[in-house]
Amino acid sequence: MRAFARILLRLDDKGPGVNFAVCKEKPMNRTTIPLQGRSHDDVLTEMSSFREHDADYKAGKTWSLVYYCGEEHSDFLKKAHNTYFSENGLNPMAFKSLKRMEAEVVQMASGLLNADQDAVGTMTSGGTESLLMAVKAARDRARKLKPWIRRPNMVLPTTIHVGVDKAAHYFGVRPIYVEISDDFRANVKAMEKACNRNTILIAASAPQYPFVTIDPIEELGQLALRKKLPFHVDACFGGFMLPWLERLGHPLPLWDFRVPGVTSISADIHKYGYASKGASVLIYKDMSYLKHQFFISTNWPGGIYASPSMPGTRPGGPIAAAWATMMAMGEDGYIELAKKALDTTKRLRAGIEGIPELRLLGEFHMTAVTWAAKDDVSVFAIADMMAERGWGADRQQNPPSIHLTVNANNAESADQYLADLAECAAHVAKHPELADEGEAAMYGMMAKVPVRGLVKHSIGKVMESMYSASGEVPDLTKLGEGDDDGIVMKMINRYGDQAMAVLDKINSMKPGTRA
Ligand SMILES: Cc1ncc(COP(=O)(O)O)c(C=O)c1O
Repeated sequence: MRAFARILLRLDDKGPGVNFAVCKEKPMNRTTIPLQGRSHDDVLTEMSSFREHDADYKAGKTWSLVYYCGEEHSDFLKKAHNTYFSENGLNPMAFKSLKRMEAEVVQMASGLLNADQDAVGTMTSGGTESLLMAVKAARDRARKLKPWIRRPNMVLPTTIHVGVDKAAHYFGVRPIYVEISDDFRANVKAMEKACNRNTILIAASAPQYPFVTIDPIEELGQLALRKKLPFHVDACFGGFMLPWLERLGHPLPLWDFRVPGVTSISADIHKYGYASKGASVLIYKDMSYLKHQFFISTNWPGGIYASPSMPGTRPGGPIAAAWATMMAMGEDGYIELAKKALDTTKRLRAGIEGIPELRLLGEFHMTAVTWAAKDDVSVFAIADMMAERGWGADRQQNPPSIHLTVNANNAESADQYLADLAECAAHVAKHPELADEGEAAMYGMMAKVPVRGLVKHSIGKVMESMYSASGEVPDLTKLGEGDDDGIVMKMINRYGDQAMAVLDKINSMKPGTRA
């Protein structure tokens, strides 16, 4: 019913130039290509109006998703991107300029990651593609060198980015997840125990996203050498920040190619490299690893086809913008931004430590902060209140926590964030019932449900609704009502408090629960 009501609303809303086709019997809930093209100005104006409810990243109120460093840099990026916006990196013979820029980006990144002269790599569309390719290359290398392995696996800390799980799913490599230690770092001994005859890769992070801590890369490198396994370090988040922090004297463990045993590193230029979206690098120790990343088909009637990574068409814009950014930023530009972000992170950490209801999680390695709540104060209710004040951040689980990625442009907003956070945390501590309201109830429940298959089922329903013909973004506070049959959502809506109390009980009985 709700969906139908929305369709009717859209039919009433004859926005400029949107052609809502109506067939005689029943209204169609599709936007169609207009019968007559509209003016560029008209289209661009309407498109800009869509942004009204989007995250306000320019004001420094969004602690994820966008790595913004001012309009001047954005304008420059757009120019660089647009210079190559039609070009296609699929055929490097046709667009030698793109191949040249990709090679130079890889070389600059290799230097930054302290790789030696034999290092090689490719650009990819982002961190997830880099991780997909690292796993695919390791799988194909094992197929070649250890053909007797029929069911390959990889040994991973639970905190490794979920892109590796996606790779496991896509490429049929079983992930063996190993619980992290109490200091939020990978547990090397447990990872060693988990390795077996079918292990083809170990991987860890510098730093991992959830608690922003660098795994013990040196010890894991030794493990990789002992076991003669490739070792991937996911530095998608930190690869373009940690080197500058090290130069600024911030104490850090070694994590890059200086560590013996590391065979590949992923690092995202579209994060702290400040390039436009669609730019990451995957660097290997040498060609003996990279060559297994390539896909080559020789029998297709369309011709011989060779491709270094996931896509076919490779947009030129992100490659060009990545090259241009690195050239324009220079070491001095990166260090200046890193210093601002580092100082802001210090301020945030000190501020959060001073809020009695909150605590910090993880080591201080990076320009990001993860905070959780003390006692029974609901992190998600605090996040809801903060969202009402316009603050966006990632909500995490195991334990419930909030992740803040800190950028130079958060420098001005950090004090206001801390002031709002202190107020919201104090308010939620006095009003525990807020944990059962709004999105907090949904996040709280999702984090606690012990049968993860139920959660998966419910999220599947959310995805189906989001990608249904109407393509609507669901209201998370209303899931489970009406036509959605997500079991978890229904439990929240019907049994709210009781269900939460039961889950609390179940969770408190679990041994070794990290609170
Ligand atoms: C450590 C780490 N690896 C990989 C990724 C995936 O990157 P992307 O979102 O560009 O695919 C992220 C994203 O935040 C990350 O933090």
